[in-house]
Amino acid sequence: MTDESADKSTTTVDRYGVMGYPVSHSRSPVIHRLFALQTGQNIQYELLQVSPEKLETAVRQFQRSGGKGLNITVPHKSEVTKLVDQMSERASTAGAVNTLSFRGGEIYGDNTDGIGLLRDLAVNLGVTLEDSNILILGAGGATRGIVGPLLEMQPASLIIANRTLGKAQALAEHFSQSGPVTTCRFNVVPVSEPYDLIINATSAGLKGEAPPYPTAAISDSTFCYDLSYGLKPTPFSVWAREAGARQSVMGWGMLVEQAAESFKLWRGIRPETGPVLKQISITA
Ligand code: ATR
Repeated sequence: MTDESADKSTTTVDRYGVMGYPVSHSRSPVIHRLFALQTGQNIQYELLQVSPEKLETAVRQFQRSGGKGLNITVPHKSEVTKLVDQMSERASTAGAVNTLSFRGGEIYGDNTDGIGLLRDLAVNLGVTLEDSNILILGAGGATRGIVGPLLEMQPASLIIANRTLGKAQALAEHFSQSGPVTTCRFNVVPVSEPYDLIINATSAGLKGEAPPYPTAAISDSTFCYDLSYGLKPTPFSVWAREAGARQSVMGWGMLVEQAAESFKLWRGIRPETGPVLKQISITA
């Protein structure tokens, strides 16, 4: 190797980042740096605060400047679908993209949120989804991203409860070909059979609000999972524990697993998530 090529190989660092608004709280840079260290990949990962009206300009500028890929987070996941040239089936079903890959001038969009949740539930936490009764609270973008992958696991039933019934009904209609989805309001959640899994996909906790969570839906065999996560237990996870759930878990694992799927898409190698999950939920 000549001096010149050696020099080039050490200065070429592939660039990635996360775009959101706000984004300063994001743990993605830490997670991806830990993945890179673990797998010996030479990458740079940036935190990019981009307001909605600047999204397109910022994505195209990142691409033009040689960036290789982006994670896209709240509130851009739906809007960014308009910018992609090609989209995975799962992103198209979710109507949302959380991972962009820049390939030969084209933008490829994927969504790793659903698989991230499934991996955390089924692999890390040992939750059986097949033939289970699942209740999802909330009917926004987060729910839309997880219903398809959950239905692929062939649950016995999946109910979406939401404050605004019409939004839950629209989602059920969207997924009607994929499996048995029903809907209700929070105060009339059917409780004839205990739920195996209750997932909080509302944004209420983020706003410091607490919806009237359906306490009668919890039994000591119910596993509760909050898509939100925080330094302290979220309002939903506190409620679930107090209501007697078998276990109550926040979404740190989903965060790390979706990141690992993005990393795999970009670098062709899937990092081990266990050590990273341990590290970030301790240092969070
Ligand atoms: P996004 O689509 O970006 O996920 P969203 O449309 O605000 O965000 O959806 C968030 C979800 O949290 C919705 O299901 C919302 O209920 P509505 O459809 O009735 O708006 C739910 N949500 C947010 N705050 C809530 C609260 N205080 N009580 C109950 N549900 C709440």
